Amino acid sequence: MTTQFNTFIQLGSNRNLSKFELSCILEKLNVDEVNFMEWRHYVFLSLDSSEQKSFFKTLDFSGSIVKAGTLSFSVKKSDETLWKDIFLDSFTRKLDEASIPMNKKLKFSINIQSRSLDFKKKISNNIRRKLNRYFRERKTQVKILPTKKISADLTPFQFYKENMLKRGLEIFCFDIKSKMFFGFTSWVTNPFKDIKQDEERPERFFTHGTSIKLSRTLVNLSQTPKDGIMLDPFCGTGTILIEGLKQEVKVIGIDKDPKCVRATKANLNHFSEQFHSREKMKEKWSVYMKDSRYVKDTIEEEVDSIVTEPYLGPFLKKLPKIDEAKEIMIDLEKLYVKVLNECVKLLKTGGKIIFIIPEYKYPSNLQISPDISSIANKTKLWLTEKSKFFSLDLPIEIGRKHNIINRKLIVLTK
Ligand SMILES: C[S@@+](CC[C@H](N)C(=O)[O-])C[C@H]1O[C@@H](n2cnc3c(N)ncnc32)[C@H](O)[C@@H]1O
Repeated sequence: MTTQFNTFIQLGSNRNLSKFELSCILEKLNVDEVNFMEWRHYVFLSLDSSEQKSFFKTLDFSGSIVKAGTLSFSVKKSDETLWKDIFLDSFTRKLDEASIPMNKKLKFSINIQSRSLDFKKKISNNIRRKLNRYFRERKTQVKILPTKKISADLTPFQFYKENMLKRGLEIFCFDIKSKMFFGFTSWVTNPFKDIKQDEERPERFFTHGTSIKLSRTLVNLSQTPKDGIMLDPFCGTGTILIEGLKQEVKVIGIDKDPKCVRATKANLNHFSEQFHSREKMKEKWSVYMKDSRYVKDTIEEEVDSIVTEPYLGPFLKKLPKIDEAKEIMIDLEKLYVKVLNECVKLLKTGGKIIFIIPEYKYPSNLQISPDISSIANKTKLWLTEKSKFFSLDLPIEIGRKHNIINRKLIVLTK
């Protein structure tokens, strides 16, 4: 009756990016091999209990994962008596183990992932009945969501607005082929935290900022170890650097624009004061006003990783003519090769470079971007093509399908 998978992960809207981040998180946790299954926008894993514990702990620092939870049991769909009786008994045992506070009105949400409406109704009614009986016996008031819809996938916003984590639980049921998997949500990304961080930082420039979520993902992709050093040679307002500091990584930022260097320093000081003393954090970061094509003598330390969203070309409201676009990309390629060749001198052998390049999309499937293979060749770096776990190809597109200007994420290794 127990499932071979004990963990589920709900991927974000960019599934490939989310899967890649998940793969890098597992790799950093030294997970060598893992039994997994991909299904729609979910990934199921079998982790041992210490791996599962460390995995849940890292999730607050993930940028693209939406939800994660534990799977408690799986049963064959055809075994109706089994899932009605034995399953529901084990289910209440799980509720006992979950040590839910019984002194408040509790809220439950039932999230049933199935294509069959009949099945959803059946399962939902069964769980409701069992929950009601369970709490009636314990004289606790319980409100079971959703009231109207049969199954509701609570968004992270709803989770935090309704204070679900403090008051109740989300129960998951997956109907996959001939099996049903049951589990509980144990972690949800908190969008309010990012909005607050974004609004409170002293400086942000809308024209060239990287989002907090993407910055967090980029840091995870680099797998920079705790106390290691991460370099951002186009640091802008320092968003990636702050996400590095949060993961106890030392950071170095470079930008050629004095306005950006001032902004980064203000943001890093603000972060330092919020979470630690400014003095204590002073040795964890440094920012230089420099052209990154010529930095070698500025920085003496060896760095573990380079993580950056570089200059992506002139600010454009519409696509330039094709010849003009090609010229922009050739100039960018030259800049990237020069900066990478200079910064790679500081990078440890085996260290990763997480880099973003622009892509212009023209009708009839014409895409124009800097030549990735040529960048790898000219810098003598390895271009990563696959992730350790899961099926996905690199580079990963960042942006939306209908956008005319997009970005691609590449990973290079020294
Ligand atoms: C896309 S922005 C970086 C955004 C940054 N991640 C953030 O969240 O604010 C690119 C930055 O590269 C800087 N830049 C452009 N060319 C440069 C060069 N040759 N050397 C150093 N910085 C450069 C620009 O001033 C700009 O701040």
